[in-house]
Amino acid sequence: MRLGILISGRGSNFEAIANSIARRRLDAEIAIVIGNRANAPGLDIARDRGIPLRVIPSAGLEREAYDKLLIEELRTHEVDLVCLAGFMRLLSANVIRAFPNRVLNIHPSLLPAFAGLDAQRQALEYGVKIAGCTVHFVDEFLDSGPIIIQAAVPVLDNDTVESLSARILAQEHLIYPKAIGYIADGRITVEGRRVRIREEE
Ligand code: GRF
Repeated sequence: MRLGILISGRGSNFEAIANSIARRRLDAEIAIVIGNRANAPGLDIARDRGIPLRVIPSAGLEREAYDKLLIEELRTHEVDLVCLAGFMRLLSANVIRAFPNRVLNIHPSLLPAFAGLDAQRQALEYGVKIAGCTVHFVDEFLDSGPIIIQAAVPVLDNDTVESLSARILAQEHLIYPKAIGYIADGRITVEGRRVRIREEE
């Protein structure tokens, strides 16, 4: 399965996926990493590892125009599955239509709680005792779409946004490659909002 990974920043989830592939825990290939910001540190990870990368700057471009470029690039690289990994842009319905049930996102909260920016800060300020992360299919709404895997972590009394984010991030790095693996192995069926994962044979 050929992955297209979209990033805007640090790229640690992209790196976790690349590591899982390198360790043969995940049977997939990263066909292309696309960044919408030329200075995204995650692009250096792709450079260092010799993974194909492309910068398509989004600043000043309308959503539809940008997404047309994205779809072209993803098709050129024969991408089967699009993985948003800290990609800070909403996609138009065109991308979802071009890759039906083939676009994933990771979000640092137990959705549907705390969608949007600064999810870890939202969780801390709300005072929840359990936080976590979610891998889900992407639809045209923000942090919406059927949920594939969630992982929970405790919120500790002395947590800061940084310490809570780090605890959540460690789980993100585990569940994102795992969710991609379920899809690569054809174990997932989606019925409405419910995602079922078949037992391994
Ligand atoms: C992660 O917390 C992810 O859940 C959110 O953006 C952050 C990206 O981090 N969507 P990284 O670029 O993968 O390190």
